Amino acid sequence: MSWLEGKVIENRHWTGSLFSLRVAGVGLKFEAGQFVRIALDIGGERVARPFSFVNPPADPVLEFYGVVVPEGPLSPRLARLRAGERLQVASNPAGFLVLSELPDAETLWLLSTGTGIAPFLSILRTETPWQRFRNVVLVHAVRHAGELVYQDLIKGTNVKYLTMVSREAHQGSLPGRIPAAIGDGSLEAAAGLRIAPETSQVMLCGNPAMLKDAAAALAARGLRKHRRRSPGHITVESFW
Ligand SMILES: Cc1cc2nc3c(=O)[nH]c(=O)nc-3n(C[C@H](O)[C@H](O)[C@H](O)COP(=O)(O)OP(=O)(O)OC[C@H]3O[C@@H](n4cnc5c(N)ncnc54)[C@H](O)[C@@H]3O)c2cc1C
Ligand SMILES: NC(=O)c1ccc[n+]([C@@H]2O[C@H](COP(=O)([O-])OP(=O)(O)OC[C@H]3O[C@@H](n4cnc5c(N)ncnc54)[C@H](OP(=O)(O)O)[C@@H]3O)[C@@H](O)[C@H]2O)c1
Repeated sequence: MSWLEGKVIENRHWTGSLFSLRVAGVGLKFEAGQFVRIALDIGGERVARPFSFVNPPADPVLEFYGVVVPEGPLSPRLARLRAGERLQVASNPAGFLVLSELPDAETLWLLSTGTGIAPFLSILRTETPWQRFRNVVLVHAVRHAGELVYQDLIKGTNVKYLTMVSREAHQGSLPGRIPAAIGDGSLEAAAGLRIAPETSQVMLCGNPAMLKDAAAALAARGLRKHRRRSPGHITVESFW
């Protein structure tokens, strides 16, 4: 593994704590859904963290979507980067939250909390989901409606887009959390589609507690973890 130096060309701030970095000058081969470590040199030390690609592989400008964790060593500094500044990018993208690992199914469910939407934005901008699945559903669950980012991009695809807002009432969004909405059937009702082992592949990304609770709610429907050696229906990526 080596480090490649990229140049920030934009740092868009969606809210006080949510930002999207666009980085030019780094050519990388990856599959949509993967991540790469990005780094800054802080006090003489290279501080690196994994970030999922938001851009599709065909786009030469890399894009990353982040949240400021106020006490975190790297994210507050990433949020302060300006156009023209440098960012280190590792040369070895990785990760298994990719469609090439998934069995075929009728419906692909992409379930995310917070910044966990990032890898799904990359996947949705490739041809593969539309070629392989009859239905593709994206669920983005956030605390506040202002965190429902990338809406124009999402609405420009054929995805069935469902939003959930947990800490305020928001017209057009489901209340509460993903696992409860799986359990009580409200997610399926909103999508007009069933979650069932015969028809569904589910990818989940974001908060580790959500991944655990959602996997339990899906297990109650007969879905199980997907593994290469024992194919199933649930593929997860935890952000911490
Ligand atoms: C495979 C992988 C992919 C990732 N992709 C992204 C991404 O695309 N965007 C992104 O913002 N982060 C992503 N992360 C998390 C990221 O690597 C950092 O942990 C995050 O940016 C915070 O860095 P930090 O150094 O400030 O704090 P850290 O010391 O890394 O984290 C401190 C604490 O902050 C919380 N936290 C960390 N990341 C998040 C988050 N994304 N949302 C909410 N709370 C969080 C956790 O409680 C964590 O223990 C990913 C992590 C992994 C393992
Ligand atoms: N989001 C912000 O406005 C904001 C602002 C400044 C800093 N931050 C920092 O960013 C980090 C987290 O922020 P975040 O809002 O992006 O991520 P988050 O805490 O993971 O919340 C995103 C969504 O996931 C839900 N969730 C949490 N636990 C769950 C579980 N077990 N099962 C299902 N859903 C679950 C939340 O619901 P609940 O609301 O019910 O928990 C919320 O709807 C924190 O370190 C925070 O300090 C966030």
